[in-house]
Amino acid sequence: MSSKRDAVLTLLTTDDKPTTVPEAYLKLHLLSHRLVKPHEINLEGIFASLPNIAWTSDGPIDLDELSEKQLEARREGRWLNVKCIDKFPVMTDYVVPSGVRIAHTARVRLGAYVGEGTTIMHEGFINFNAGTAGTSMIEGRVSAGVFVGEGSDLGGGCSTMGTLSGGGNVVISVGKQCLIGANAGIGIALGDNCTVEAGLYITAGTKVTLLDENNNTVKLIKARELNGQTGLLFRRNSTNGTVECKSNRSAIELNEALHSHN
Ligand SMILES: CC(C)(COP(=O)(O)OP(=O)(O)OC[C@H]1O[C@@H](n2cnc3c(N)ncnc32)[C@H](O)[C@@H]1OP(=O)(O)O)[C@@H](O)C(=O)NCCC(=O)NCCS
Repeated sequence: MSSKRDAVLTLLTTDDKPTTVPEAYLKLHLLSHRLVKPHEINLEGIFASLPNIAWTSDGPIDLDELSEKQLEARREGRWLNVKCIDKFPVMTDYVVPSGVRIAHTARVRLGAYVGEGTTIMHEGFINFNAGTAGTSMIEGRVSAGVFVGEGSDLGGGCSTMGTLSGGGNVVISVGKQCLIGANAGIGIALGDNCTVEAGLYITAGTKVTLLDENNNTVKLIKARELNGQTGLLFRRNSTNGTVECKSNRSAIELNEALHSHN
């Protein structure tokens, strides 16, 4: 097949931080092709090596050429769709991994690792160097660096705290079979079989009351002490506002019908 464009061959012999556009794109492709998992490849300083680009229906266009190209398209009676202006393209314009459903493709950046069997609904978002290990339902935001275990469900509009801005420095992960409820959020890692009540945002410093089986107070601790622990249910007591944590009796199962079309 002939091409009007020059091909760029990029070889990585060491895993140094990316310093050129081809190196950065290659590393993002490796993630989205599931050849490496988040955190398995050095992406330090990747923003500095990527220009901000208009990603359009005519392909990537430099921003200083965009208005001219838009006029050109209009003169030809065409419509140039500017899908996003970003350093990262939409993943599915370059890589479509097998066995996934993505309702709104612009919400998944190149460099996302989307595991086989993942469904991402319209509210879902996956950043680069982040993603899902396998079957998952994603209706919330998977921030850069966050990796979600098999069988977990991120409810509508929920948030996983990233480390790229705002001072957060704890790298978050979500274990297997977790449920982060709608509009909830986490600033600590969750182990397997954890549930966070809808609407509850747990930050690392949140004071959490540990309860026993009979809802008696055991002690008061900071959420960061529960970082990565398994089998926990977090909720905000609706009568007194206290954030509580107890053993999770009902770990979730993903809805089969929602996944049958992947
Ligand atoms: C936290 C959550 C998982 C608890 O659900 P559950 O395990 O089914 O618990 P139940 O609602 O059966 O409640 C068990 C008991 O705890 C009590 N309880 C539940 N939430 C409570 C709260 N926030 N404060 C005080 N008591 C609470 C119930 O009243 C009930 O008391 P009882 O034993 O006296 O009857 C659920 O409320 C939730 O937030 N689910 C998230 C769903 C979601 O967002 N999905 C994603 C959709 S996009």
